[in-house]
Amino acid sequence: MSASADLAEGGVQGFDLGTVVGFVARAGGQLRAVSGVCTHLGCRLALDSAARRLDCPCHRTSFALSGELLRHQLPAPLAALPQFEVREVHGEVQVYAPPGPVA
Ligand code: FES
Repeated sequence: MSASADLAEGGVQGFDLGTVVGFVARAGGQLRAVSGVCTHLGCRLALDSAARRLDCPCHRTSFALSGELLRHQLPAPLAALPQFEVREVHGEVQVYAPPGPVA
């Protein structure tokens, strides 16, 4: 996906694997990858790097980089963002995504 050196501690990068889009972040030395698609109606999330969160432009919902729901104005809370397996091999960040679309 990208070189480890491009994802320093505290860094966040968007990715597009064709079947899925998402964001990978490094915090506390750990890599975490989550879907970049809102669990409400499927709008693409936008990264707010200063606030370190993912915002949905459709209905003013925000998710943490870990995928947890942070805030919403909907009648019921949304599911957290699906997570993807991620690892580093030989200086490269690799995200494993399912072959089909993820909600
Ligand atoms: S589609 Fe994201 S909150 Fe509705």
